[in-house]
Amino acid sequence: MARICCGPLHTLALLTSVLLIMVLKDKNLSFAFFPSAAEWQHSSNISYRSVEFRKNLSSDVNVSAGPRTHTSLVRGQCGVAVESRISCGRDRSLSRADCEGRGCCYVPLPRSGLGGPPWCFYPVRYPGYKMGPLLPTEKGQRATLARSAPSYLPRDIPTLQLDVMPETLGRLHLTLKDPASPRYEVPFVTSQSRGQKDIQNPLYDVDFQPDPFGFIVRRKSNGRVLLNTTIGPLLFADQYLQLSSSMASSVISGLGEHYTPITLDLNWTSVSLWNRDMAPHRNANLYGSHPFFLVQEGDGQAHGVFLLNSNAMEVFLQPAPALTWATVGGILDFYIFLGPSPQSVVQQYHEVIGYPMMPPYWSLGFHLCRWGYTSTNRTRTVVQLMRQAKIPLDVQWNDLDYADRRRVFTFDPQRFGDLPQMVEEFHQLGMKYVLILDPGISSASPPGSYKPFDDGLKRGVFIKNSTGQILIGKVWPGPTAFPDFTNPTTQDWWMDCIRVFHSKVPVDGLWIDMNEPSNFVEGSVDGCPDSDLEKPPYTPGVIGGQLNSGTLCVSAQQYLSSHYNLHNLYGLTEAIATHRALLKVKSTRPFVLSRSSFPGLGRFSAHWTGDVRSDWEQLRFSIPGVLLFGLYGVPLVGADVCGFGGDTTEELCVRWTQLGAFYPLMRNHNDRPNAPQEPYVFSQQAQDAMRTVITLRYSLLPFLYTLFHHTHTSSRTVARPLFLEFPTDPNCQTIDRQFLWGASLLISPVLEEGALEVTAYLPPGTWYSLNNGEACYSKGQYFLFPAPLDTINVHVREGSIIPQQAPALTTTASRRNPFTLIVALSVGNWAEGELFWDDGESLDTFERGNYSYVLFFAEESYVVSKPVKLNGCLDGLVLGEVRVFGVQAPPTAVWANGKKVHVFSYSPDTKVLTVPGLDLPMTAMITVKWS
Ligand SMILES: *[C@@H]1O[C@H](CO)[C@@H](O)[C@H](O)[C@H]1NC(C)=O
Ligand SMILES: *[C@@H]1O[C@H](CO)[C@@H](O)[C@H](O)[C@H]1NC(C)=O
Ligand SMILES: *[C@@H]1O[C@H](CO)[C@@H](O)[C@H](O)[C@H]1NC(C)=O
Ligand SMILES: *[C@@H]1O[C@H](CO)[C@@H](O)[C@H](O)[C@H]1NC(C)=O
Ligand SMILES: *[C@@H]1O[C@H](CO)[C@@H](O)[C@H](O)[C@H]1NC(C)=O
Ligand SMILES: *[C@@H]1O[C@H](CO)[C@@H](O)[C@H](O)[C@H]1NC(C)=O
Repeated sequence: MARICCGPLHTLALLTSVLLIMVLKDKNLSFAFFPSAAEWQHSSNISYRSVEFRKNLSSDVNVSAGPRTHTSLVRGQCGVAVESRISCGRDRSLSRADCEGRGCCYVPLPRSGLGGPPWCFYPVRYPGYKMGPLLPTEKGQRATLARSAPSYLPRDIPTLQLDVMPETLGRLHLTLKDPASPRYEVPFVTSQSRGQKDIQNPLYDVDFQPDPFGFIVRRKSNGRVLLNTTIGPLLFADQYLQLSSSMASSVISGLGEHYTPITLDLNWTSVSLWNRDMAPHRNANLYGSHPFFLVQEGDGQAHGVFLLNSNAMEVFLQPAPALTWATVGGILDFYIFLGPSPQSVVQQYHEVIGYPMMPPYWSLGFHLCRWGYTSTNRTRTVVQLMRQAKIPLDVQWNDLDYADRRRVFTFDPQRFGDLPQMVEEFHQLGMKYVLILDPGISSASPPGSYKPFDDGLKRGVFIKNSTGQILIGKVWPGPTAFPDFTNPTTQDWWMDCIRVFHSKVPVDGLWIDMNEPSNFVEGSVDGCPDSDLEKPPYTPGVIGGQLNSGTLCVSAQQYLSSHYNLHNLYGLTEAIATHRALLKVKSTRPFVLSRSSFPGLGRFSAHWTGDVRSDWEQLRFSIPGVLLFGLYGVPLVGADVCGFGGDTTEELCVRWTQLGAFYPLMRNHNDRPNAPQEPYVFSQQAQDAMRTVITLRYSLLPFLYTLFHHTHTSSRTVARPLFLEFPTDPNCQTIDRQFLWGASLLISPVLEEGALEVTAYLPPGTWYSLNNGEACYSKGQYFLFPAPLDTINVHVREGSIIPQQAPALTTTASRRNPFTLIVALSVGNWAEGELFWDDGESLDTFERGNYSYVLFFAEESYVVSKPVKLNGCLDGLVLGEVRVFGVQAPPTAVWANGKKVHVFSYSPDTKVLTVPGLDLPMTAMITVKWS
């Protein structure tokens, strides 16, 4: 739940830019006078920059002459190809005089609007740091970098220490910091680091250009230049750090959280990373920051780059292809991952930030929520109606409605007086219950009446303003203080609050919302001081134009550092504290859902994509949104099914439920003022379609759970972009209207209103319709599939065996049902699959060996289910059915464990053999044979 404010803001920015254009037209200045769009197009505070720009204009009215270089520039140094120009004026717009004053090239270009290459750019070999000799260290090599003259930035750091650390075969770690005085470095993220330590023959080579300093990283196997930072200068000042690099291709994914396709636009764009409560829309910094990207090199190989830096940053992308990192603090701490496959890049990244947690089984069921379930009775009714409609529901939620005067850790004595009893009732039904928990702690209750605040005050857990008093902002309950989760005392206090609340209301998980953190006043109720932190020399293009917009004053003080440095970690640190508290209080696998995110979140929490609107475009963009979080190590992710903001329509909600059934996390959630969107409010036809697909999801949960086991233990992705699985197929590079579950299920949803067919790409090979087993042979081509309102197209890849289980209204019930195996024979007549199974909620079952593991394989005319590890959790469970896709010759007889089976069927049309009515214990080896 949050304010939805993108609409008006957007319009305002647009209006301002239109006004600006009109102003310029009045003055009869042609568009040729525009500063580089890259210099300011992404600022939402266009009015502010335009003032500055006009100032520059007035001092430089005579610009229209052709190219002219600074006198000190050697002819040719400005002969940089237009697409390779790197802006010399990111910190502000520059006139020709200012530009040349920096020793940069000023070469205007004709322009037809906003966007495009800069006019003011660095010449070749712009002076920067000079590198001393590389000396060996314990971890690699070290050199000192020094500037002979200061840069144009305030508070330059004249001497830097470079450390080059080859950490694993595929991972290079490179840091640049100030050896003279320690600077802020990101805590929490790299607490566990895995990876093969053998670095005798790494996949990379690094070369250095000593003066001006730059480095080049090559893929050793083919000599490909992956990074070349000599294309622009390294800048390292107290509040501005910049590094540019060429890129090996234009196909780049990452740098979230933004509303984008799976690959980024390099046409002179930028993305800002600064966590913000903002309904998803284009060109906006959203809830999370993930300074990681993956580059597909074009031949199936890939590499990745992670800049471990939590300060506000903007990353500029240009068609060279090249990018420029610009961050306002911290150090430059780069990890470079050589893959060589895209999946191994993701794995190598997660070796640094940590593999994802193993979610509780029930969290893979269907979740239902809305702001506006105003009482326990209302909430109970929702659950009743879902059960009457026979639609599976594992987890019922409440938004802030439950809280007494919107204060967390309380519940309304009237409307939610019997909340504890309601939760017990849900538990009796085999269901779970989750409620919202915002970080803002009401500070306005009379002393002695609200223990979380009184206690927190006593224990010193709140973030302080720059003069050392508790910073007061405003969120849902009114004036609030903000816990500082970087303080160990705060973590203990938070655990105590959760323990006390849980002893009354036995919640099964917690939904930590508003944790960017969101603030309804700018900075604090007292505003923010006028300081270098609040107004840095350079502010990335963030919504609101200022770092403290919609959040806390960045000069606020936290236990580990300033909020300026720690802001982007607020959600991560709250997730760590909440995860830890649930772990202690419940002793089962914690379920935490966080809106704000940073690398490492996936070890502690799930994520949803925030306040999406109920419209078709947002439906479509939810796919890249979800897929990218898989790359970021947060696999348990989904968008609010049917949309959160605005009224949904029946058709949209059906299509969204079909797609949402294949989000790793499936929650229908709605905002307070909107038309209802629970499945049971729609027509019978729509309800049937929703029931069908939610039931399909439930039947696939054993498969999904096994995928989560793999992501937890080896970081293989769950919801997977096609390029991760088919890296050498160029058609897959940018597909984000379809996706895979693991390696085997291809999902091709309808994303357009009125469509009853879907155009879907099938990579080369045989794909079987999950629906009826019909085979489709692809040479790597697009197909048009029927997609009536009750159908989502899902295809099973040849060679895979998918374990299913008969569905039920909850996972508590479905987990006891018979299994089915879907066997999708390859052309060569084989298939394989597996099942990871445990009790679904105990801690560290894999780590402690408390699980069962079953392998499935098929060859020619038989399929085998073979337990390779048993711990008791499969006791009593049976295999009920086997369905084999692609059986070419009609079988005349079927045997199960050597006994003849009397009931089976074969369809000559679809070539599917179905063997129902089996009742064979999963704990023993099973063979089903046909001939
Ligand atoms: C304004 O610019 C147009 C196009 O360059 C030119 O034709 C016109 O004479 C200019 N008007 C004035 C008042 O300078
Ligand atoms: C790196 O970039 C510079 C500047 O564009 C270029 O001159 C140089 O050839 C590049 N080096 C390599 C190895 O590609
Ligand atoms: C890049 O953006 C400019 C300005 O918006 C546009 O005219 C141009 O067509 C774009 N180029 C590409 C390749 O998309
Ligand atoms: C809920 O409904 C029951 C039965 O209709 C009623 O007795 C009770 O007062 C209601 N509780 C609330 C909090 O409205
Ligand atoms: C810090 O908070 C106190 C108490 O609200 C307030 O009086 C003071 O002005 C604040 N300091 C700043 C710098 O905002
Ligand atoms: C833009 O920035 C100026 C100067 O910092 C500030 O006064 C103004 O309120 C900002 N406008 C918006 C819309 O954020």
